[in-house]
Parts: sequence; structure tokens; C-alpha cells
Amino acid sequence: MRLMSEGEARRLGEALGRTAERGCALALVGPLGVGKTVVAQGVMRGLGWSGRVPSPTFGLMRQYDGRLRAVHLDLYRLEAAAPEDVEWLGEAVEGAELAVVEWPERAWSILPEDRLVLALERDGAARRAQAAPSGPRSRAWWERARQAFEAWPGGTGGGDPHE
Ligand SMILES: Nc1ncnc2c1ncn2[C@@H]1O[C@H](COP(=O)(O)OP(=O)(O)O)[C@@H](O)[C@H]1O
Ligand SMILES: [Mg+2]
Repeated sequence: MRLMSEGEARRLGEALGRTAERGCALALVGPLGVGKTVVAQGVMRGLGWSGRVPSPTFGLMRQYDGRLRAVHLDLYRLEAAAPEDVEWLGEAVEGAELAVVEWPERAWSILPEDRLVLALERDGAARRAQAAPSGPRSRAWWERARQAFEAWPGGTGGGDPHE
């Protein structure tokens, strides 16, 4: 896709949150500090959640009740986990209406087959995002989100558009 400022990453997340429907799953791939949590925060905001969205790195998962019941997972600390240890996470993802997962490489099996993989990478000071939907649901979601993002570059505020 394009190079993103932090504000743009947040607004891309918001566009995803505003256009998500029940059953959507977002996998956020990319190195530490690239902005996965920033995007996830935007998603929750786009769902109408106005509170804080701290990184779930240590608890692995946090739940949010916005327009959809959402879970935000960060599997960074999962490296040494046995398969049965991720069962509860898979159940949580299944029970949620929207799942946003950082470090999905640690446990792809807990995500539905049809998921939107958003790969973030650093390009000097800026960031690049590449979306790969893996099925009809996530393809349609990405289409809606991209349109919402492009039609609405200013977002709802809460970030300096020039940052
Ligand atoms: N273009 C950008 N996109 C996203 N985050 C950025 C950008 N530029 C700077 N940042 C900063 O980088 C950090 C990204 O952290 P975070 O979203 O927690 O990364 P991750 O979850 O991928 O480890 C934040 O402190 C954010 O303020
Ligand atoms: Mg993070």
C-alpha cells in the first residue's frame, strides 16, 4: 500500500473498525515497534470504543465491547507455548465478533482461514502497509475499509494530521 505516518496508521485502523462486520479477523504482522498496536487502537476506536487500548503483551488478550464484541491479542510472549495452551485463545477468538491479533505467526491456527493479514514494515522513518485478504469476507472488508480510509483522510480527530 503506501507509506503511513502514525496518524495514518491509526486512521487506517479506524477505517477497519468502522467497516468490520461480525466474524472478521485481522492479523497484524511486522517487527517490534512497527505500529501494530497503533493500528489495533484505531480499530477499537473505529468500533466506537473511546477508552484506552493498552498493549496486551503481558496478558496476551484484552476484550472490548464496541459496536462489535472484539478481542485484541498479542502473541509475542507465546513462543514456548504448547498447542493445548493456545486452545483458550482459539476459543476466545471464535467467541468474539472481531479479532485483532498481533504476532499471529505464533499461532495461526487460532485464526479463521478467511482473515485479513496486514503486514507493516518500516521504510526509513516512514511505514508501509500491505494487505492480504485470504477469503471473500476479508476481501470485502478490505475493500470497504480502503474506501473508507481514502474517502476520509482526516479521521475523527484525536491525532495531528500532519504528524
Ligand atoms: N508511522 C508510524 N506508524 C506507527 N507507529 C509509529 C509511526 N511512527 C512512529 N510510531 C511510534 O512507534 C511505536 C509503535 O509502537 P507499537 O504500535 O506499539 O508497535 P508494535 O505493536 O508493532 O510493536 C509507537 O510508539 C508509535 O508512537
Ligand atoms: Mg504491539
